[in-house]
Amino acid sequence: APAAALLLAAAVVVALACLALADPPASEQSALLSFLAAVPHERKLGWSASTPACAWVGVTCDAANSTVVKLRLPGIGLVGPIPPGTLGRLKNLQVLSLRANRVSGTIPDELLRLSGLRAVFLQDNAISGAIPPGVSGLAALERLVLSHNNLSGPIPFALNGLAALRALRLDGNRLSGKIPSIANPGLKVFNVSDNMLNGSIPRSLASFPADAFAGNLQLCGTPLPPCSPFFPSPAPAPGMSPSDGAPGGTGKRKKLSTAAIVGIIVAAVVVALLLLLAIVFCCKRSRRGARTEGPKGTAAAVGQTVTTRPPPASGDGTGTASSPKDDAGTSGSVAGAGAGAGEASRLVFVGKGAGGYSFDLEDLLRASAEVLGKGSAGTSYKAVLEEGTTVVVKRLKEVAVARREFEAHMEVVGGVEHRNLLPVRAYYFSKDEKLLVYDYLPAGSLSAMLHAQRS
Ligand SMILES: *[C@@H]1O[C@H](CO)[C@@H](O)[C@H](O)[C@H]1NC(C)=O
Ligand SMILES: *[C@@H]1O[C@H](CO)[C@@H](O)[C@H](O)[C@H]1NC(C)=O
Ligand SMILES: *[C@@H]1O[C@H](CO)[C@@H](O)[C@H](O)[C@H]1NC(C)=O
Ligand SMILES: *[C@@H]1O[C@H](CO)[C@@H](O)[C@H](O)[C@H]1NC(C)=O
Repeated sequence: APAAALLLAAAVVVALACLALADPPASEQSALLSFLAAVPHERKLGWSASTPACAWVGVTCDAANSTVVKLRLPGIGLVGPIPPGTLGRLKNLQVLSLRANRVSGTIPDELLRLSGLRAVFLQDNAISGAIPPGVSGLAALERLVLSHNNLSGPIPFALNGLAALRALRLDGNRLSGKIPSIANPGLKVFNVSDNMLNGSIPRSLASFPADAFAGNLQLCGTPLPPCSPFFPSPAPAPGMSPSDGAPGGTGKRKKLSTAAIVGIIVAAVVVALLLLLAIVFCCKRSRRGARTEGPKGTAAAVGQTVTTRPPPASGDGTGTASSPKDDAGTSGSVAGAGAGAGEASRLVFVGKGAGGYSFDLEDLLRASAEVLGKGSAGTSYKAVLEEGTTVVVKRLKEVAVARREFEAHMEVVGGVEHRNLLPVRAYYFSKDEKLLVYDYLPAGSLSAMLHAQRS
């Protein structure tokens, strides 16, 4: 008898379980009903508590009818925000489509806790606010379509954490800031057109077509036009020089002027060096108490320094003079030095800690840049890197110097630390391009200060 009773009890339990499984939990049914009751809508759906929720228009359950997995209510004239405590209670929801309605308000946080969501279609509504970074908690998310809403703020980098993401459409909103370098491996559909984005397009997204980025504030970089032409491709450069040289006179004048500038610089450096040595010599002498000779003494000192210290002076001179030869030597050894090819396109950081920077040449190439100033030695650009770092890039013009010499100078200059000197943080050397990277100081240029801009 006890065995029969046990069997009966078991049978009852199983039957109850089956009954319970035959329909989604009451909480899901009431969640759906309270959603529809709270959101005015045009089309009557005929949801009724007396029929199982799995049979309702727009509702799909799992195979066992035990839980709601899809809710699709496109174009039924829903108006207003998603009320709290409604859709967030559909714990096993995988697909949510409320597209082409007039849903407003922000994206509710409770939707971000539905970890089973694979697809969210909320396009063509009036949803405002930011895309919550908490979206990264939706680990199963494959498709996120928020096109044509009123979303603002930045595109959260957190989207990068969605490993399953295949489609991300954010076009037609008011999103601003830069596009983060999201690099979801499976991303096949991507569209951020018609927003208010600016800055450079991350490399990871450069393979998407241009119209995926169209209609923004100031996006640049592949597939759109380059951010700034401060690295012209080698091809146009030779094309430019003949046209430059064609009107003979001006070409010659330019060459003469650069030669003159180089001459002046060399002369200035030599004079400065001599003056420095003279001063040092003078000081030493005056300390020794040899004050009787006065100006003649200094003249003699200068003479002496010139004669006693020829090795460094002439060494410097021959260094610059022999640079073309040296250059030919290095260009010959580029092929010879196996590592040379790799080194050729490398940004070299100098000085202690290099200012805490960690970017490479490619980052620099992709930075958006604006001209800060043009000088006799080259043009300076303000370059804003993808991660937001701002540096100054000085592009040296027509520097005929050998790599080894350039590198040696940069190591010396990079090691100089003084609070009134802008330290060189990095350099780049190639045959066609010599770049110096400095910290960016936002207070304006020394030239502007010196030349009395009253404002
Ligand atoms: C699930 O519910 C639907 C609609 O009520 C019904 O047609 C279907 O037969 C049910 N399936 C199971 C396995 O109960
Ligand atoms: C978009 O949202 C802003 C507030 O963020 C609001 O002022 C504006 O009216 C909204 N536009 C539309 C078309 O809903
Ligand atoms: C991008 O927009 C932000 C703010 O909207 C602004 O501060 C920044 O200067 C802009 N950058 C460019 C390159 O236009
Ligand atoms: C991106 O969206 C815009 C309109 O929203 C559309 O015109 C364009 O074709 C789309 N591009 C891609 C690549 O999806």
